[in-house]
Amino acid sequence: MAKLFEPFTIKNITLKNRIVMSPMCMFAVEKEDGIVTPFHVTHYESRAIGGTGLVMVEATAIEPRGRIRPSDLGIWSDDHIEGLKTLTDRIHAHEAHAAIQLGHAGIKAQTNDIPIAPFSEEGTVTAMTPHMIDQMIDQFKVAAIRARKAGFDIIEIHAAHGYLLNQFLSPLTNKRSDAYGGTREHRYQVVKKVIDAVKAVFHGPLFVRISADEYHEAGNTAEDFIYFSQEMKAQGVDLIDVSTGGVVNVPINVFPGYQVAHAEMIKRGADIATGAVGLITEAAHAEEILNNQRADLIFIGRELLRHPYWPKVASEALNVELEAPTPYKRGWN
Ligand code: FNR
Repeated sequence: MAKLFEPFTIKNITLKNRIVMSPMCMFAVEKEDGIVTPFHVTHYESRAIGGTGLVMVEATAIEPRGRIRPSDLGIWSDDHIEGLKTLTDRIHAHEAHAAIQLGHAGIKAQTNDIPIAPFSEEGTVTAMTPHMIDQMIDQFKVAAIRARKAGFDIIEIHAAHGYLLNQFLSPLTNKRSDAYGGTREHRYQVVKKVIDAVKAVFHGPLFVRISADEYHEAGNTAEDFIYFSQEMKAQGVDLIDVSTGGVVNVPINVFPGYQVAHAEMIKRGADIATGAVGLITEAAHAEEILNNQRADLIFIGRELLRHPYWPKVASEALNVELEAPTPYKRGWN
């Protein structure tokens, strides 16, 4: 049996295969209110029909000023629950599981508000006070309660790509001198509190996406990322979704599987399940990653935008017959 189509049990959930739709902002909210539109329903349901085992909904903002763009999905009010519930219902209708990525863009937010960050820049960025940090942690917690009410099986905390939580982790952006800055133990504190807050109210599997390479000599090192991942494991995080970059604006050399070595480093270094992502578009490549135990799940991004039924294509390449309505099957009729 091809590994890509073997079930994967994580905490209290068994995914039917190892294919995850990587979180991808669609910038498709119509009224800047963060509410799910018919487009989102069709978009996510298509990937569930296509055979993806875990459909992860894009970075969804825990507060309005945490949106990357004004057209991002939101989860900052109870009004968001109904639309998100439609998404999980439609995903579940196809024996797929549903995840949501909770995020705050921090300094990278492109809304009309002045962005917040671990540091200040005269007139353009507000440095977060300890009180603002407490509020943000609480917003993650309330968002997790709403995600639970909306029927999500899995939550992923977005701590990658230079967004707010990543800015606390990185010495390149965290210049604080209080208990949230300085040593890596201190830089980890905000993420640590967010994880605890989410886990207090959400009992399904918890993923965290990190950028495990900052492509900068003064950035976090491999040792730092392993330390963060060990801490996450100790807190009960179930899987690290391993991406890279976005903290500083530097060119990245991308090639098929360019972040797989990072997923492998975290998996070995912290003995925790990992997801590999980044230019994985071929079934045989996914098999190589899984069979060599370099990662446990395969996150597919742009290839699933181009081919919503990519799992079906992959199953044919690997000679696996997927569950499908009879008329869909080869040779029928
Ligand atoms: C992304 N990516 C992304 N990552 C994330 O953690 N949260 C997000 O909301 C988004 N949004 C997003 C939108 C779009 C249009 C793209 C193309 C990408 C990154 C994405 O999840 C993935 O990590 C990368 O695209 C690399 O994987 P692929 O596309 O090479 O399979």
